[in-house]
Amino acid sequence: MRKVLKWLGIGLGVLVGLLLLALAGVLGYGEIAYGRTHDRPIYPITADTSPEGIAHGEYLVRAVMACADCHAPEGSSEMIGTSEQLSVGPIRATLVFPNLTPDEETGLGAWTDAEIARAIREGLSPDGRELRIMPSSNFHRLSDADTAAIIGYLRSQEPVRSELPERSANAFAKAMFVLPLGLPEAYGPAITQPQNAPEPGTLEYGAYLTSLAGCRDCHKSDFSGGRLPFSESDVPPAPNLTSGGSLGDWSEADFVKTLHTGIRPDGSILTEDMPWRVYTRMTDDDLGAIYQYLMSLPAR
Ligand code: HEC
Ligand code: HEC
Repeated sequence: MRKVLKWLGIGLGVLVGLLLLALAGVLGYGEIAYGRTHDRPIYPITADTSPEGIAHGEYLVRAVMACADCHAPEGSSEMIGTSEQLSVGPIRATLVFPNLTPDEETGLGAWTDAEIARAIREGLSPDGRELRIMPSSNFHRLSDADTAAIIGYLRSQEPVRSELPERSANAFAKAMFVLPLGLPEAYGPAITQPQNAPEPGTLEYGAYLTSLAGCRDCHKSDFSGGRLPFSESDVPPAPNLTSGGSLGDWSEADFVKTLHTGIRPDGSILTEDMPWRVYTRMTDDDLGAIYQYLMSLPAR
């Protein structure tokens, strides 16, 4: 019996040692990866400040890409930035959602158009630092024309001074940000060639909008659905959006109406965990394109 206990003790000791080593490895990796920077040429873009450009940029920002969901304080639509303290278990971080108004000191006023474009599409700050949480990987395919329109719209806003803290994260938070845990990803490869949007009316156009709208962030990469990362237990899981889920029985008109009203064809109401209030402003044609794309995917 004593021998067994002894071996058990040694076994446990080895196990704890290995776990500590793994933990040190993960934390060390987090420390290195979190602060990564990239020194590379910047792709030129010029803001489209024509009235049509600004209107189109506003549509993308407000109805499709949900920028204000993160960049405006709770309950406001003004993208003056906000910050949040994250504290889960040993994880501590100050999340900062920067001011996107053209204020010279606290907003994007002093940034070049190309720097703003790179932050949006490649997830890098002007000094080459990788952004975190900013879902640039969803925006990587954004066409040059759409990017120019978005910057035109951002520049057309009223500049507002808004002091925010610096982003910060302890070792556990850094590891969480850089491990593949389903959080939005920012960093992407360099854009070196002109990018065009697919033709409206094609499945590729539906795929393009679905990516910009970030539906995958919650409904999973194959749209099979599941629980949202780090969500409270009263948040419903995101449903399967392929023809294998309830959407298989919905018509395109049902889908469009659900996203416009927040009410499903069976009369049940979508919770605010589904950001339908953002998408409610999408045109019928664009929502139809998303529906056609989802229905073209393998059933899950
Ligand atoms: C899921 C939340 C989220 C969404 C949605 C989002 N962002 Fe961000 N964004 C962030 C966070 C967080 C940062 C700061 C990242 C950092 O510093 O590590 C950021 C940084 C930026 C920056 C760099 C600003 C700076 O001062 O460093 C720009 C520009 C930007 N976002 C524009 C946009 C635009 C335009 C959209 C919509 C097309 C958008 N973001 C959507 C979270 C978001
Ligand atoms: C922030 C997370 C999030 C994002 C982003 C998101 N959804 Fe959802 N969605 C949910 C959740 C959670 C539910 C379940 C809500 C409920 O049960 O009340 C849901 C429900 C739905 C439903 C109802 C499906 C059913 O079977 O009842 C549809 C349709 C839908 N989402 C489509 C979309 C589309 C299209 C996009 C992108 C344009 C999208 N969602 C983006 C979280 C999200």
